[in-house]
Amino acid sequence: EVADVSELLLSHIRDVPDHPKPGVMFKDITPLLADPAAFAALTDTLAALSTRHGATKIVGLEARGFILGAPVAIRAGLGFIPVRKAGKLPGATLRQSYDLEYGSAEIEVHAEDLAAGDRVMVIDDVLATGGTAAASVDLIRRSGAQVAGVAVLMELGFLDGRQKLERALEGAPLEAL
Ligand code: PRP
Repeated sequence: EVADVSELLLSHIRDVPDHPKPGVMFKDITPLLADPAAFAALTDTLAALSTRHGATKIVGLEARGFILGAPVAIRAGLGFIPVRKAGKLPGATLRQSYDLEYGSAEIEVHAEDLAAGDRVMVIDDVLATGGTAAASVDLIRRSGAQVAGVAVLMELGFLDGRQKLERALEGAPLEAL
């Protein structure tokens, strides 16, 4: 059944060469979002995984993790918590910086949204270098919450993001559809 879902999802992802810069093959999820059966299958699969791993909250990573994570939260009957790029959230935040190929980036979450006793499933579209997801795992743990796992639609296997993320996950599951 999961194999069937994977085929359905993959058939709705568009490869766009040389975007956003020459030599990069961009994985465009907008055809999947525009197809109600595929989007529903993705939502149902991610919601079932979240439930199976005992999640009590859903975190989505800006920006495409918001699009995927919000319906998963509703479907699983859980609250949705946005992890945003630094400077966007109005309240008191926890902030986590991480290294990029050149320079660094920062993500934030509202401190009051996560606490000890929460079990958080992190949802995003793509695992590339793993930097964003690993930083979100560190951020969630610093709040006192547990990490139920990370679930992504796609994993770019040639970038070794899984290795970096699994170090951060310390045994919590990584699901790539
Ligand atoms: C992309 C993607 C992931 C992240 C993966 O987001 O949606 O969040 O990069 O890359 P990594 O594994 O190397 O960290 P992007 O930063 O392009 O943000 P956007 O969704 O707001 O465009």
